[in-house]
Amino acid sequence: MSQRVRTHANPLRRFPGLEPPAWATVYAEPGHRFALDLGASTGEFLLGFARAMPDWNILGVEVRRPLVERVLDEIHEANLANAHVVYGNIAGRLADFTPTGRIDAVYILFPDPWFKKKHHKRRLLSPAFLAEAGALMRPDARIIAMSDQTELTAWMRENLEADGHFAAVTPTPLPAISAWEEHCRRTQRTYDHLEYARI
Ligand SMILES: C[S@@+](CC[C@H](N)C(=O)[O-])C[C@H]1O[C@@H](n2cnc3c(N)ncnc32)[C@H](O)[C@@H]1O
Repeated sequence: MSQRVRTHANPLRRFPGLEPPAWATVYAEPGHRFALDLGASTGEFLLGFARAMPDWNILGVEVRRPLVERVLDEIHEANLANAHVVYGNIAGRLADFTPTGRIDAVYILFPDPWFKKKHHKRRLLSPAFLAEAGALMRPDARIIAMSDQTELTAWMRENLEADGHFAAVTPTPLPAISAWEEHCRRTQRTYDHLEYARI
């Protein structure tokens, strides 16, 4: 049965029951390098990454529950032992959701722009998020962000530059393509690709 999926969900509401999984039950090799896909949505990037990067684990995070259920089904059907997705907002609890205690890559692909100033606190790549993630990232670990919203790109770049723990590097091709990137390419919509390395 098809399920209605909201277009937007407030990421700052409460997510009761949001707890990290027992890592050995979701990853065959919990000690592998670890990537986060924040705003995994329908999972195209997550699944493509898991197939292309068998020596990495990836954790998708998504605040729309029906999408999480669908992606979990696809992970199981594809027998992927290096991908998982959780329902909720893990900001403020990143260490709990990091199996090795270290983050090697963070992907924030086409995050919701939350245009109104009063909603900026809902944006993903905030100064608070950068402080938290930066403390867990190994030297040279990457933050990769994409957006087709120029004002949001400028805001993310400003936060990354202001943090002081990241240096801009030449963007490298991603191991997989997200649904929104695919949409932009198909419709010839321009978008930005930011890549920063933890210093
Ligand atoms: C525009 S979609 C982009 C999806 C996908 N990354 C892509 O590139 O196709 C943004 C997604 O982020 C989710 N989202 C927004 N805030 C979030 C948060 N704090 N944590 C996890 N997911 C979030 C939304 O529900 C939505 O599915």
